[in-house]
Amino acid sequence: MAIPTARYRENATVRIDYEKCRVCKLCIEVCKGAPLYLENGKIMVDQTLYFGCIGCGHCAAVCPTGAISVEGRDIFPTSFMDIPKEETRADYEELMALMITRRSIREFEERNVEQEKIDSILAAASTAPMGIPPSDVEVLVIRGKEKVREFSDDLLEHMRSNKWIFSKPSLLLMRPFIKKEEYEVMDKFISPAIETFEEKRKEDTDWLLYGAPLAMYFHVSPYADPADPFITATYAMLAAEALGLGSCMIGTIGPMLKNGGKGLKEKYGLNPRNQPGIAIIFGYPAVKYRHTIQRNLAKVHYY
Ligand SMILES: Cc1cc2nc3c(=O)[nH]c(=O)nc-3n(C[C@H](O)[C@H](O)[C@H](O)COP(=O)(O)O)c2cc1C
Repeated sequence: MAIPTARYRENATVRIDYEKCRVCKLCIEVCKGAPLYLENGKIMVDQTLYFGCIGCGHCAAVCPTGAISVEGRDIFPTSFMDIPKEETRADYEELMALMITRRSIREFEERNVEQEKIDSILAAASTAPMGIPPSDVEVLVIRGKEKVREFSDDLLEHMRSNKWIFSKPSLLLMRPFIKKEEYEVMDKFISPAIETFEEKRKEDTDWLLYGAPLAMYFHVSPYADPADPFITATYAMLAAEALGLGSCMIGTIGPMLKNGGKGLKEKYGLNPRNQPGIAIIFGYPAVKYRHTIQRNLAKVHYY
């Protein structure tokens, strides 16, 4: 029983080279699909067991003798590469240095982001984990300040035509059917935010995408875990930081596109069935931060 994704409905194929297999059973241990089993001292594959091969590639990646090959569900013979040497990997301190240096950047230099850096961000984003492989995350890349402004104006127009939803009378009608917190967010944040975006736009200032020279919108098929685009976007954001770019997540777009926005989705080639996700703006920071900020989670408790 293959787990369907937007791109694949079949299991991947697993082949075992018995000449090379030493029956260490590591593949069986890591496989959670789980079509691998041991029979008469041999590793066997039965795609009817559990979910069959979901194409995670772990069996081939863990095999010490290269006895396993997987193909299908976006896994190719070239998908398996050497692991970077330990001394080239960021340790905790290096990773923390990158993470605490990052700030949400909303002021950008008048400079485009080079294609090479866009490619590097996307390469890093594609390493993110996903609910079920292969990733169903799609990325709309909007290059250049003018195009980002056009996208922002189109979004603003969409918000403008839907702002009645967040008007006081409409919110009061909705109130008995929605949670108190949802009501408060719509009343105290979304509604005034739309007003502010409109007001600022009249002054030729973009408070939605902040005049950024690059934007990406991460969204995902209805098959996928709704968390997938957010995780992929987080990887992209950290990669941007490592490349000397500033970035800021923009959460307002996903929910705005959730209902309606048919023309907008058509124009930007967004699958109308996809689940909403998150946007990120990128660019070279025009402001230098002198200090980092201590942040705290709302609560950590152990059981
Ligand atoms: C899911 C998410 C959505 C966000 N949406 C917006 C947004 O729409 N507009 C904006 O200016 N900043 C947005 N931000 C940035 C936050 O406001 C920012 O992370 C927060 O103020 C903390 O600042 P820091 O990232 O510099 O630590 C978003 C951040 C996240 C994680």
